[in-house]
Amino acid sequence: MSDTPTLPGHPHVARSGTTLQVEGVALDALAREHGTPLFVYSKQWMLDALAAYQRGFAGRDALICYAMKANSSLGVLRVFAEAGCGFDIVSGGELARVLAAGAEPGKVIFSGVGKTRAEMRQALAAGIGCFNVESEAELDVLNDVALAQGRRAPVSVRINPNVDPKTHPYISTGLKGNKFGVAHDRAVAVYRHAAALAGLQVVGIDCHIGSQITESSPYLDALDRILDLVQAIEAAGVPLHHIDFGGGLGIDYDGDTPPAADVLWKQLFARLDARGFGDRRILIEPGRSLVGNAGLCVTEVLYTKPGEEKNFCIVDAAMNDLPRPAMYQAFHRIVPVAERASLPATRYDVVGPVCESGDWLGRDRDLAVEAGDLLAVLSAGAYCMSMASNYNTRARAAEVLVSGANATLIRRRETVEDQLRTEQAL
Ligand code: LLP
Repeated sequence: MSDTPTLPGHPHVARSGTTLQVEGVALDALAREHGTPLFVYSKQWMLDALAAYQRGFAGRDALICYAMKANSSLGVLRVFAEAGCGFDIVSGGELARVLAAGAEPGKVIFSGVGKTRAEMRQALAAGIGCFNVESEAELDVLNDVALAQGRRAPVSVRINPNVDPKTHPYISTGLKGNKFGVAHDRAVAVYRHAAALAGLQVVGIDCHIGSQITESSPYLDALDRILDLVQAIEAAGVPLHHIDFGGGLGIDYDGDTPPAADVLWKQLFARLDARGFGDRRILIEPGRSLVGNAGLCVTEVLYTKPGEEKNFCIVDAAMNDLPRPAMYQAFHRIVPVAERASLPATRYDVVGPVCESGDWLGRDRDLAVEAGDLLAVLSAGAYCMSMASNYNTRARAAEVLVSGANATLIRRRETVEDQLRTEQAL
């Protein structure tokens, strides 16, 4: 693709002739073959993103556990399983999915504030690597479940370090007012309690401060607070084998400039080394930064509609496919698949067919488009398909994974029969 200009922040998306392409595959041809809306992912972008973490961890004892909630499609999970990754899961459903994709159970960690007994039993039987426990009540239940199975559950306690990740309030998780984790001040007592339970084996400590973090400072602050606790917990006689530092590193949606993963981890290891923890096993749980800019969503313009105050560009993708704008007022770049030099640009709100005013994908976008044109909604690899719904009985989109000149359909378009299968009319 060296002769074709790539899109800013999207090195595997390039304009070639009259179409955009992902790696070596033209988006207009993919849309003709599979229809729209269509998610298209670059495998190379995922592997490059992973390589940045791997460079940061070179020579260290570390495990990258992909937070599969960001994109849990089997074809995507397989990429990370083949690369040797572990996985961060948050439900029994995710456990079944990731095992189906070929994950090693011992490299799976289980996060989340509301694990059920059934999920605990399922994860213990699978032999997962660690439960990231979020409350004292959960420790007691997990202890009961493990004893009933004659096992010891490997546990970390998730600590809420009370640092501000400086991100959207809905996706910041490490502040005192959040539902996540155990308060910093309670940590030593909670670890003493965990260590005394016969069904548990304390293996580590965990934190996760938020998502779409674009600065290093919240990470460095959280690390210092966690290391203070590691010292206090070990002084209380509870050894910690690993430190799990969660996920959260942001991506470029709109000119955002998060630190590169290797640069961030160079800084974090400098701090770990300085405090004498450089040899400690490190786990991380990145989601968005491994898949976010690997993906885009191709959608067709159905109608353009001039309005009294605004013009609308009505497309066939909607909030059920791309929920982030409706939920977080998130910004996704939207670009035409084929550029039209002859048409003047008009300022549009790009909206979907769902019957809600909140169903918008982009506001005030200057686009030269007509009905029938294709648009690409960028940065759609993370928290789009995995958060898609059937609202308005809309079928969920198809997904294609591109590698070089090859495109593989990793999820066929859902049908209405798929949706009706679980229901019955009395
Ligand atoms: N670990 C835990 C415990 C988490 O809760 C999360 C994300 C991650 C790891 C991965 O974080 P990441 O590296 O992807 O930032 N739907 C929202 C994001 C929600 C994040 C939830 N937790 C969005 O679309 O922005």
